[in-house]
Amino acid sequence: MKIFLIGYMGSGKSTIGPKLARALDIPFFDLDKIIEEQEGMTIASFFEQKGETAFRQLEADLLRSITLVNDSFLLSTGGGAPVFYNNMDFMNEHGLTIYLEMNPKSLAQRLAPARAGRPLLKHLNNGELEDFVAVKLKEREPFYKKARLIISGLSPNANNIASTIKENYQSK
Ligand code: S3P
Repeated sequence: MKIFLIGYMGSGKSTIGPKLARALDIPFFDLDKIIEEQEGMTIASFFEQKGETAFRQLEADLLRSITLVNDSFLLSTGGGAPVFYNNMDFMNEHGLTIYLEMNPKSLAQRLAPARAGRPLLKHLNNGELEDFVAVKLKEREPFYKKARLIISGLSPNANNIASTIKENYQSK
């Protein structure tokens, strides 16, 4: 089965993704890491050197090629991926989308220490961060909420999510 993990930066995709993939016995891929490996640079450097437009194009292209080449996987996607190039509809057409939902305050608290490596956040101070996250989340929620499965809360449990998937979605 093909599973796409979506959610804002800091929602825990990279933490829960590998655990969930293990519980479902499918390979785990991380779209940002694949981009970094392929391009030989960090996402932050890519944004600096080539810009966000080039990043979104590459992100959309790789999302499609990874999805079409592999039969079974859990793919963690960058926080902006569902918003560009019809990516959300593409993911819904090709597998099970899971949104890790979290409120802006919790996201801002989790993101504050790791701002430097995040190109969209590094210019913000603590006061600005929560407002920025709240505004962005409002813009992105209509896309995120198209997910087939929405998991809310601060510490989702991979085994519980795996059971839900096995009971309800395994045939897809
Ligand atoms: C982005 C999120 C990042 C990365 C890039 C842009 C975004 O991924 O793709 O910095 O637009 O929200 P994570 O959500 O994995 O941090």
